[in-house]
Amino acid sequence: MKLNLDNNPPVSNKSGCLVIGVTEDGKLSPAASGIDQASGGSISRMLESGDIETGLGKTVFLHGLSGLSTPRVLVTGFGKVEKLNLARFDRGCLAAGKVLRDHALTDCHVCLHDLEFEASDMAQRLKQAALAIHRANYLYTATKPVKEDSPVPLQSATFQGGTELTSALAEADAIAAGFEKAKNLADLPPNICTPAYLAQEARSIAKQYQRIELEVLEEEQMAELGMDALLGVSRGSANSARLIVLKYSGGKADQAPVALIGKGVTFDSGGLSLKSGENMMQMKYDMGGAAGVIGAFVACVRLQMPVNVICIVAAVENMPDGDAYRPGDVITSMSGKTIEVLNTDAEGRLVLCDAITYSEQFNPDVIIDVATLTGACVVALGHHATGLISNDDKLADDLLRAGTTIVDRAWRLPLWEEYQSQLDSPFADMKNVGGMPGGVLTAACFLSRFAENQRWAHLDVAGSAWKWGTNEGASGRPVGLLAQYLLDRSA
Ligand code: BES
Ligand code: MN
Ligand code: ZN
Repeated sequence: MKLNLDNNPPVSNKSGCLVIGVTEDGKLSPAASGIDQASGGSISRMLESGDIETGLGKTVFLHGLSGLSTPRVLVTGFGKVEKLNLARFDRGCLAAGKVLRDHALTDCHVCLHDLEFEASDMAQRLKQAALAIHRANYLYTATKPVKEDSPVPLQSATFQGGTELTSALAEADAIAAGFEKAKNLADLPPNICTPAYLAQEARSIAKQYQRIELEVLEEEQMAELGMDALLGVSRGSANSARLIVLKYSGGKADQAPVALIGKGVTFDSGGLSLKSGENMMQMKYDMGGAAGVIGAFVACVRLQMPVNVICIVAAVENMPDGDAYRPGDVITSMSGKTIEVLNTDAEGRLVLCDAITYSEQFNPDVIIDVATLTGACVVALGHHATGLISNDDKLADDLLRAGTTIVDRAWRLPLWEEYQSQLDSPFADMKNVGGMPGGVLTAACFLSRFAENQRWAHLDVAGSAWKWGTNEGASGRPVGLLAQYLLDRSA
């Protein structure tokens, strides 16, 4: 989908639809007021009569208003003006975007960002609106061809504004492309999106953009490095594992890179600790972390940000088999630490710990891993917040702030050493499960042991990477948070 800017008056705009926002107080934004005047007060009359609803996310198409060059106007409600903030603004824009997707329209002109509210500026609102409209116009087509009754995503959207908004729009465009990439990958079925497929995807990204180097490790190379934790998980699968390393050099040669590490479990059956049918159903999404870091990487390289990034995807499939690893096995990770595997379904931490150890050779400034790691995170935070755990307050604050800036929010949870003892094992340096209490935290405790001398953060996206039990599919999160973090660093 193409995003453009156009600074001509909305009333003379010739696209298929003008998109404007209204709030409950009835005070019209500049665009709404222009349309109101051109159409002889239609907007104010319909607000008065209640034919235009102003509640957050309410939408209505108005057809054939006089004085306009467009056939229709989409009016979107943003609720009470005093409650309006960036998160609510984002929700309103998403609602408008969804209606536009479901309508046969293929282009529109958006004026939503002229709605003013506290602590936001025009560039930030434009960026959020463009991102939301783009995200809402996603349509999965890889294995479901477009039919007559399919939604019709927009092909382009122009936004009211001139060159002062160019960089905000470029950021939205790149981050939206990252979201789209992440959603497309995560939504693919696990018989298509295998570890080898993810490696192929990385290859095509490396070809498409500048300043990228790619390395893909096969199982033999990982065995030589001693990555027996990662390989243990993969043993039960007929689809062999890959460690995918995408390097982007946009910064100075001596600038320490940001390492982004994604859990790429392309399907998580649980292994011999087999999941129930119900719990297994959505486990194609267990590579959501990988999709997230790849998407953030795409956003970064599209903008050619002045940063160095190492994106590592630990791509494996977790299956039961005669050769699968078992509960009770003790394996030695690349770091040399031994792990008693008590539950083969706690596999994410096993693949991530070797990826974290592998990342140390790049002397990263920070390591951020992203994973659909625990069901416990969903219990704790639901679907709206990504779980954040870090051994570094500055890094944690920077990530939280980035998430708030772009409405892809995380919430910090503790990494107190008291939790560590839940991982004690009589047979190894640690076990891979910490029991029921604080399952998000003990998973992070496990990872922290492999990032001891590093500035490290862990994002648990088990609840936020996709909408459970709905047809909505992948969310693409935390592409926004990560991309904004990289943008903030390059500022
Ligand atoms: N991929 C799952 C976590 C998950 C579950 C993500 C549901 C999204 C939705 C992970 O590999 C897993 O199975 N974790 C176990 C850990 C437990 C065995 C300690 C879990 O959360 O139940
Ligand atoms: Mn699992
Ligand atoms: Zn998993």
